[in-house]
Amino acid sequence: MEKELSQKKRIATLTLDDGRQIELPIISGTLGPDVIDIHELGKVGLFTYDPAFFSTASCTSEITFIDGDAGLLYYRGYPIEQLAEKSDFLEVCYLLLNGQMPNAEQKSEFEHKMKSHSMVHDQLARFLNGFRRDAHPMAVMVGVVGALSAFYHDSLDINNPEHRDLAAMRLLGKVPTIAAMAYKYHNGYPFMYPANKFSYVENFLYMMFATPAEDYVPNPVLVRALERIFILHADHEQNASTSTVRLAGSSGANPFACVASGIAALWGPAHGGANEAALNMLEEIGDVSRVAEYVQGVKDKKYRLMGFGHRVYKNMDPRAAVMRETCHEVLKEQGLENDKLFKLAIELEKIALNDPYFIERRLYPNVDFYSGIVLRAIGIPTNMFTVIFAVARSIGWISQWKEMMSATDRKISRPRQLYVGAKRRDYPPLDER
Ligand code: CMC
Repeated sequence: MEKELSQKKRIATLTLDDGRQIELPIISGTLGPDVIDIHELGKVGLFTYDPAFFSTASCTSEITFIDGDAGLLYYRGYPIEQLAEKSDFLEVCYLLLNGQMPNAEQKSEFEHKMKSHSMVHDQLARFLNGFRRDAHPMAVMVGVVGALSAFYHDSLDINNPEHRDLAAMRLLGKVPTIAAMAYKYHNGYPFMYPANKFSYVENFLYMMFATPAEDYVPNPVLVRALERIFILHADHEQNASTSTVRLAGSSGANPFACVASGIAALWGPAHGGANEAALNMLEEIGDVSRVAEYVQGVKDKKYRLMGFGHRVYKNMDPRAAVMRETCHEVLKEQGLENDKLFKLAIELEKIALNDPYFIERRLYPNVDFYSGIVLRAIGIPTNMFTVIFAVARSIGWISQWKEMMSATDRKISRPRQLYVGAKRRDYPPLDER
């Protein structure tokens, strides 16, 4: 890929106000806009300034492609709509990790391997028991996923491809188990061990909602809905949490520690915390009659419309369209067709999409606008929404980490800054301050 990219030899010329001209290569990917390669600019004493990375490609990647203007999302070239309709989550995991769709044999071997990694070290349950019961489950996730590196020492050699594979399988196998344990612990219910007779998603629902006292039969409509949520959230190129994982990984940190840092970044309401925040917002609005007043508050910049807007999508988030459809299916299945929050969401979407404030800023519903309603209808409590996102995104994080670690020209990521602080000054004695 690198070779193919560098063969183009197109040049951008940067002219400085002192007359210097600097030639910068322009490189093209397989899809998407060209990029200007500025990585040698530092050698002539110049840096670019791009806070929050509005115009910066931080790496090359073959995993996920987004066209925000056209509203397109592809995993390894496959459109998200096709994957959401025809595939299942483990197949998508295989695809993201390995670059190709598995054949029947590879698929069954992958599923088998994943199941063999679903249990956690028994001591990990004691570690989890140290948290306060009222801890937010995302706090538990950050801590316990990070702690995997204290339990699985034999998969921490980041320079060994077999260790990297093993760590990836362990992470993906164990993350749903840890998430379900966080939920059970918070509520004082006994932990449920994983059950290998179930699929990945069925097993997650089983560990969440089964009790040792009763048989548990997964509902296929709810399983399919959660499968879709997992697929839609599986990867999203260099978003805040994935970039965090890559940044941590660039220093040579172990994969469990890197993914824990990704979970921490995901937690914020501008990122993965948006699904929880969007549902809380709908509950706060409470009634269709209050939508106009709420939208006015958004326009007055008192608060943001959660589940709306995206750094990259300046058109409908393709995941939101799939999610809206899933929302109908789940509410019907659960007998919640007249769900108050869903009606409210539809009304809010309608008003916002027709309002010049949102039109001018190209703000559309994102995946989290509807995913909260689906999760709530499945019976998942609000404080677990971002945890579900973390379970789904673990495959994206570990695939991106593996891609970075297998590159031969790996370097520690080290941004520079535009310093705007005090100039040099002398240390003042205490009595002169
Ligand atoms: N509600 C109201 N106004 C908004 C919103 C919103 N949700 N999002 C952006 N704006 C306005 C913003 O006030 C600004 O207006 P102005 O130009 O007058 O100052 C303009 O749109 C551009 O906003 P920005 O903050 O520069 O845009 P950004 O690309 O930095 O932010 C975002 C992207 C996702 C953080 C933002 O749209 C947001 O806060 N949305 C709500 C949170 C949310 O739903 N996040 C989930 C994203 S999808 C899941 C994921 O991938 O994590």
